[in-house]
Amino acid sequence: MFVKRLALTNFRNYSTLDAQFGPGVNIFYGDNGQGKTNIIESIFYCAIGRSFRYSKDNDLILTGTDHFRISAELGDDITENIAVLFKETGEKAARVNGLYLRKLGHLMGSLLSVIFSPEDLDIVNEGPSVRRKMLDIVISQLHPSHYFNLQQYNKTLAQKNFLLRDCGRTGSTGSSADALLDVYNEQLAAYGASIAEKRARFCAELEQLAAEKNGQISGGEALTLKYVPNFRASAPAPSPETATDVPEAENIDPAAVQNAIKTEFLELLTARKSREIERQHSLYGPQNDDVQIELNGMELRRFGSQGQKRTAVLSIKLAQILLLYRKTGRKPVLLLDDVFSELDEKRSSLLLSSIEGYQTFITTASLGELPGHVKRDAKIFFVKSGEIQLI
Ligand SMILES: Nc1ncnc2c1ncn2[C@@H]1O[C@H](COP(=O)(O)OP(=O)(O)O)[C@@H](O)[C@H]1O
Ligand SMILES: [Mg+2]
Repeated sequence: MFVKRLALTNFRNYSTLDAQFGPGVNIFYGDNGQGKTNIIESIFYCAIGRSFRYSKDNDLILTGTDHFRISAELGDDITENIAVLFKETGEKAARVNGLYLRKLGHLMGSLLSVIFSPEDLDIVNEGPSVRRKMLDIVISQLHPSHYFNLQQYNKTLAQKNFLLRDCGRTGSTGSSADALLDVYNEQLAAYGASIAEKRARFCAELEQLAAEKNGQISGGEALTLKYVPNFRASAPAPSPETATDVPEAENIDPAAVQNAIKTEFLELLTARKSREIERQHSLYGPQNDDVQIELNGMELRRFGSQGQKRTAVLSIKLAQILLLYRKTGRKPVLLLDDVFSELDEKRSSLLLSSIEGYQTFITTASLGELPGHVKRDAKIFFVKSGEIQLI
């Protein structure tokens, strides 16, 4: 798939933009603060329905106006067009192929995209929430149901936390509060099991692909990504007749794993109910899960060099591209925001050879840092003060 045309109204520093892109490499260059990342951000917004930066929807509205609109026309895909409208009142609406979406979550999967940015190092350096988000974005693009499960889970978790605080304030858990806690725990176990099972499964697939890339770039260093649930769930044992000759991953039934997690999670929540009441807060569940990233058996965050971390992060991103492509047969659109200044020649050339055949948007403050062959075949736009010009 590729973005053929992008139109923006009042998005960030663009009052209007209407641009046509090529199916290969498209480059935005210009000084800092001119609007290069803003374009990338608007494209990724079509993929996940929000900003990839730490920005709220209201921050994306051009100052002094009251709404923004993004519309994208795609080529070579089942999705032909996507349009999103956000008003400062909080109203948000989206259309895909001309049809209004009842829920914004249905946007997921319409445009597949992977974004690379200097902040990707946060995946290694920062806390578990960054790693959970990384998994959740890829999985939601593949399975919109994951997005809805997360939404329901978080909503229920917030309600449960409210109730726990309330119990703490009044100093008592009456029988109705107690029964309500049981209801919340049931729901959390059901949604949570689906979330944890999918994350663990996709993490294992990502690990395989990322380890291979990492080995190639580093000359054989071993990268591992292990999903670490906040409670342990034992997978059911494979049946004896299939256990011998079928590869391990294929003879585990996701639904059976989900059921096992659900049972175990619910048992834990029930057993620790009084402790959660005492602490006035939910203590267990996938909201606390993590992905442990190791290189050669040692925690990358604590023992890795800057170069090893960059290689690992690059490998994880390249793995996401492959995962999306292999699972859907659709090629994701790649967004490379300011990444070449941070990569040495070896990593740059591996990245460039990996993106061949994918539509790619590259932003840079200096065209000089991009190899000649990339520029030769690219559509190049000069970006200045919220306007772009094809050169
Ligand atoms: N809501 C907004 N309204 C108007 N301008 C904005 C808004 N949000 C960001 N900007 C402007 O966008 C510019 C940053 O754009 P960005 O794409 O991040 O720059 P770069 O070209 O360095 O990637 C800044 O000049 C900032 O003031
Ligand atoms: Mg930028």
